Amino acid sequence: MEELKKGLSFELELSKEIKEKFYYVDRDPISGQRLFFDNAGGSFRLKSAVAKQSELEAFPDCPERTHDLSVYLQKIKKQGEDDIRIILNSGERGSIITSLTASQAMFQMIGTIAENVSGNNMITTVLEHPSAFDAVDYYARKTGRELRVANSNVESGKVEVEDIIKLIDKDTVLLSVMHASNFTGAVFDIEEMVKRARAIKPDLFIVVDAVQHAPHGIIDLQKTPIDGINFGPYKFFGCRGSGIGYVSDRVSALTHHKLIEKENEVWALGTPTPSQFSAITAIVDYVCWIGERFATSLDRRELFVEGMTHIKLHERALLNRLLEGSPHVEGLRKLKNVTVYADNKDLSERDLIVGIKFDNMDCAAAAKEYEKKSVIVAPRLRSSMYARRMLESFDIVDGVLRVSPLHCHTFKDIDKFLMITKEIACSK
Ligand SMILES: Cc1ncc(COP(=O)(O)O)c(C=O)c1O
Repeated sequence: MEELKKGLSFELELSKEIKEKFYYVDRDPISGQRLFFDNAGGSFRLKSAVAKQSELEAFPDCPERTHDLSVYLQKIKKQGEDDIRIILNSGERGSIITSLTASQAMFQMIGTIAENVSGNNMITTVLEHPSAFDAVDYYARKTGRELRVANSNVESGKVEVEDIIKLIDKDTVLLSVMHASNFTGAVFDIEEMVKRARAIKPDLFIVVDAVQHAPHGIIDLQKTPIDGINFGPYKFFGCRGSGIGYVSDRVSALTHHKLIEKENEVWALGTPTPSQFSAITAIVDYVCWIGERFATSLDRRELFVEGMTHIKLHERALLNRLLEGSPHVEGLRKLKNVTVYADNKDLSERDLIVGIKFDNMDCAAAAKEYEKKSVIVAPRLRSSMYARRMLESFDIVDGVLRVSPLHCHTFKDIDKFLMITKEIACSK
């Protein structure tokens, strides 16, 4: 299945059912009909996640009492935690961190490692989101370590394993690296990187930012044991308002923020919010529902992997269509005045995010043109702290238009986008 280089789209009937499960895919209540291709900034929400989360918000009950409703809320929380473990394939090991954003979880993980582990340097990459880059920079300065930054590869749109490995030595405190770029969609080879990094320093602490990759691919901590990882439910078909982190047992054993009477494994500070956990269960239920369309299993992780595999393959087919077009409409690669950045020909190394530019107008103007035509894409400009370092690393002067559909889109949606893109590319 993985070898399907051009992907495999869902059958039409299943595609229709999938679209129905999300809010506002084809229209929103303010602008009406539209194409929302900015899922990397916050993905479509599952109706089931929104419903469950708001249903649970209505209960005033403390989830730490003994009465029936409180016990019910405890079960919701436990199921949510189990489902975080299904997403990560962590088994029973390690601890879960919940916070308001993925960034907060990242600062907590990096801070704990930096303040407890000896060594004289800390490593991250130039493509990291500020949540990871700034956390490493902050704690390197605070604890007096050298900050080492791995450079990007303009061609592949990612940071190559080699460029990370050459920075590691026996005195490296930690390595912080993203699973996939939220800029180019390029997927980093985490498995190979972990293997080679630990060949240099077997007990190296490694933290991975999976916020971008989690909704598009499979994470497997059994196969690739690392010390910290995070993701954001609001980029993963769920709701805003929570960030999820996971740390290994050896990170939990380090001194970290916790209540004195709680075990080392308990990172939660304060009362849990069951509704947030219920949204995670809704995400996993949904992915397993797709999995059940293709496989029979009683194992939730197996169904989840099956579902994610088909999401990935459908998205690869959409990516191929976006780049190559069809006999009826030219793809981005063929359109005059359009350049695709970091256009790796191997689509199995890419998530469904594409960075483009126009020769006939700047990035901000192009985003406005799309907006006029009811298409939402994200301009990533030099003026933004979320984009500047990445743009500089790729030698891009103006900016990039980030195009990020989701698996609930269809070829028809992609074709519509391509036709509008052609109009914009030929407009001046
Ligand atoms: C790759 C990546 N990491 C981390 C984050 C931060 O997530 P949050 O806004 O939940 O802190 C983002 C958000 O855009 C992201 O794209």
